[in-house]
Amino acid sequence: MRMRMTWLVLPQIRRHSTATSTSTSTSTRILGATFPTDAATNLSASVLERIPRRLHKVPNHPIAIIKERIEDYFVKTNQNYKIVDSLSPAVSTTQNFDQLLFDKDHSSRSPSDTYYVNKDTVLRTHTSAHQSEVLAGKQSNVGYLLTADVYRRDEIDLSHYPVFHQMEGIRIFDRKALLSESSADTFAPLPKGAKITDPTGLSNPETNPLQVAHAQKDSELVALHLKRALEGLVWHLFGSDKNLEIRWIEAYFPFTSPSWEMEVMYQGKWLELLGCGVIQQKILDDSGNPDKIGWAFGLGLERIAMVMFGIPDIRLFWSQDSRFLSQFENHTTKQITFQPYSKYPACYKDVSFWCPDGFHDNDMFEVVRDMAGDLAEDVALIDTFKNPKTGRTSKCFRINYRSMDRTLSNEDVDIIQDKVREEVARRCGVELRG
Ligand code: PHE
Repeated sequence: MRMRMTWLVLPQIRRHSTATSTSTSTSTRILGATFPTDAATNLSASVLERIPRRLHKVPNHPIAIIKERIEDYFVKTNQNYKIVDSLSPAVSTTQNFDQLLFDKDHSSRSPSDTYYVNKDTVLRTHTSAHQSEVLAGKQSNVGYLLTADVYRRDEIDLSHYPVFHQMEGIRIFDRKALLSESSADTFAPLPKGAKITDPTGLSNPETNPLQVAHAQKDSELVALHLKRALEGLVWHLFGSDKNLEIRWIEAYFPFTSPSWEMEVMYQGKWLELLGCGVIQQKILDDSGNPDKIGWAFGLGLERIAMVMFGIPDIRLFWSQDSRFLSQFENHTTKQITFQPYSKYPACYKDVSFWCPDGFHDNDMFEVVRDMAGDLAEDVALIDTFKNPKTGRTSKCFRINYRSMDRTLSNEDVDIIQDKVREEVARRCGVELRG
């Protein structure tokens, strides 16, 4: 039985001589490179430990299986996609935001949403961070498929985890030869009964505009190619599900226009699978490709794996328990449905405190990640109260603890809960109640 109690003794950042991604008070090492830390640094040990894992490169791991299936599909439509999957997650704020035309005050730059290695370097929050770098220079490829781990400070529940995996796909065409280049790709026909709802068209002047730099017919050709490619992808992945239903909705990203999201119907709800759109021409121009036009998409691999294999809890992807990984060994010869192994009982504990100014719920979630590791299944804000006299706000969070490989005793959980209380007071400056 594997114990995960090592999490308990890790302070926010600790020197650890054997790991490849570690921190001291003045610098951080990430995959062999050293970065100075500063006042902006908000990395945590639990996140740094995940960096060397690279689940998308672990043989027979469900994330790697989905990656390969998507690569197979695109390479069938056109052989000249470049495959990229080993880039470091430490990128500059210029790469992650500026080159992608994010406003200077865009909310995703906030330290409550993003992990800062230092003021100029972040852990990439999306695979789009590499667009300019991969597009730079002259390309012999028609595009690329880039898979990577991405990092976001976020809530804790069965489908959110601070590290997850995305794949970015880019297809570029010569502007002068757009028609012939785009029609050269071979898409398999969709099945007759395919249920696709698309009220969004190829642009909308008010809500999803064409770019000034693009002739309408060019933008429409690219958008059509994009939608056709992605609809084909979803059928390639989920085609055996005769009831599959997908729909397109309009979206907004600073780096594409027009933009869309694709959703699939899953367990009675629409679930977002990917974002995409026509690449902002400025990004192609700035990366030395003014004569090109193209599309981009970014999709979440955990989402797809959870739907495809019926994986109920996002923490399972990080499990090194053979009861998890062994279930995917025969993936090339048989259709796999994950068989959950017994669920051990959960135990919840509440913590309430007065919040200082600037307190963000994600700060609390991070403390729980660091102190409880994967024993924390879910953290919910169950009560907020503002004292009308003092103007202070009190919050109560309920932490649901559950191990995936053993029964936790009340004493086990109390030890962790005490650490969470101590650490949230120390790190976030909250005043504990009760
Ligand atoms: N990077 C976007 C995200 O993480 C997804 C995306 C990629 C959208 C490429 C459009 C084009 O949400």
